[in-house]
Order: sequence, then C-alpha cells, then structure tokens
Amino acid sequence: MRVLAICGSLRAASLNRKLLRVAAEVAPEGMAVEEAPIGGIPIFDEDIEAKGLPDSVAGLRERCFAADALLFVTPEYNYGVPGGLKNAVDWLSRRVEGKQPFAGKPCAMMGASGGMGGTIRAQLQLRQSLQLLGALTMPGPEVFVTQANGRFDADGNLTDAPTRAAVEKLMAAFGQWIARMKG
Ligand SMILES: Cc1cc2nc3c(=O)[nH]c(=O)nc-3n(C[C@H](O)[C@H](O)[C@H](O)COP(=O)(O)O)c2cc1C
Repeated sequence: MRVLAICGSLRAASLNRKLLRVAAEVAPEGMAVEEAPIGGIPIFDEDIEAKGLPDSVAGLRERCFAADALLFVTPEYNYGVPGGLKNAVDWLSRRVEGKQPFAGKPCAMMGASGGMGGTIRAQLQLRQSLQLLGALTMPGPEVFVTQANGRFDADGNLTDAPTRAAVEKLMAAFGQWIARMKG
C-alpha cells in the first residue's frame, strides 16, 4: 500500500515534515509512506494552465494517481490552509482528460502548529476542499498537535509520547480505511 504524503510547510526545519516522518516510521506493516514536495509549483493561473501543466504539477499529479492514498501533514496559517498547500490542491483539482486525482482517493490528514488549536481550522478547511473533489477522507481519528515546538527536541525528534501514540493510532486506522475504501 503506497501512501503519498504532502507537507503543507515548505521550510526545511518544518515540524510538520518531522511529524510526517514519524507517520512513516509508525505506519502499519505493508504501508510505505513517501513525501511528494510541493515547493516550486507556480501560483495557479489559468493562463499558465492553458499552455499546459508545468512539469512540477504534472509530476505531482502522476504521483497522486499512482498512490493508493494521500496523507496531508500541514500547519495552519492565519486560521487556514497554508497558501502553498492550497495552491497545490487547486492545481491538482483541475480535470485533465476528464480526470483529477482526488476523486475516490482515500485521504487522511494531521497537523502541528504553534498555537492551542493544533491546526483544527486548517484541517476543517482542507476537509471541505477534499469533499468537493470527491476524496474519501477518513473521518477520524484526528491528530491536532498543539504547541508543537515543545514536543520536538533540537534535532527534530518527536519527544512527546502521547503525540507519537496518536500518530500511530491514526496511521493504523488509515491502513484499515484504505483497505475498506479500495475493497
Ligand atoms: C504565516 C504564518 C501564519 C501562522 N498562523 C498560525 C495560526 O493561525 N495558528 C497557529 O496555531 N499557528 C500559526 N502559525 C505558527 C505555525 O503554527 C508554526 O510556525 C508552525 O511551526 C509552522 O509549521 P512548520 O513548523 O511545519 O513550518 C503561523 C505561522 C506563519 C508563518
């Protein structure tokens, strides 16, 4: 089972990318999680699209189609989905030859933020967009990592055992969700 993971933060030291790596570590047997970077994708513009999909978008699109499922690991920016992630979703949402990769695709999400909301608002927004696109988004369990800075050490290791356990629980449920949705 191949899960393509998309991190909503572009920065090198992203805590969400660290969380993504934890998700890959604790993924159930038989599930491989790999990250697809979304940096470098141009801002969505129908005039660019009319000239053909940029290579960065076409490559990401192919990887999404090829994956059994998608995992989003995202921070929250100003109570919403970070622009870079929304931009990637907007590009991928476009039908090419009648197809877009979210339709019927099992998806899950988690996120870490500095505040007390732990990305709850960003995740709700992302769920809404995925609903429109026909994704099969797992309803729960949910993972909202609040005050994320205090849960990782200086080397980026997740030191908070309850957070690790919550990620492991989500990934186990995701494995079952994917099997059910594909069955
Ligand atoms: C533009 C911007 C907006 C932010 N808005 C929020 C927010 O609405 N809620 C929140 O909890 N944290 C917010 N933060 C703090 C981020 O949660 C924090 O920087 C987090 O570590 C970013 O994720 P990353 O480490 O994966 O890059 C914001 C950060 C930035 C840069």
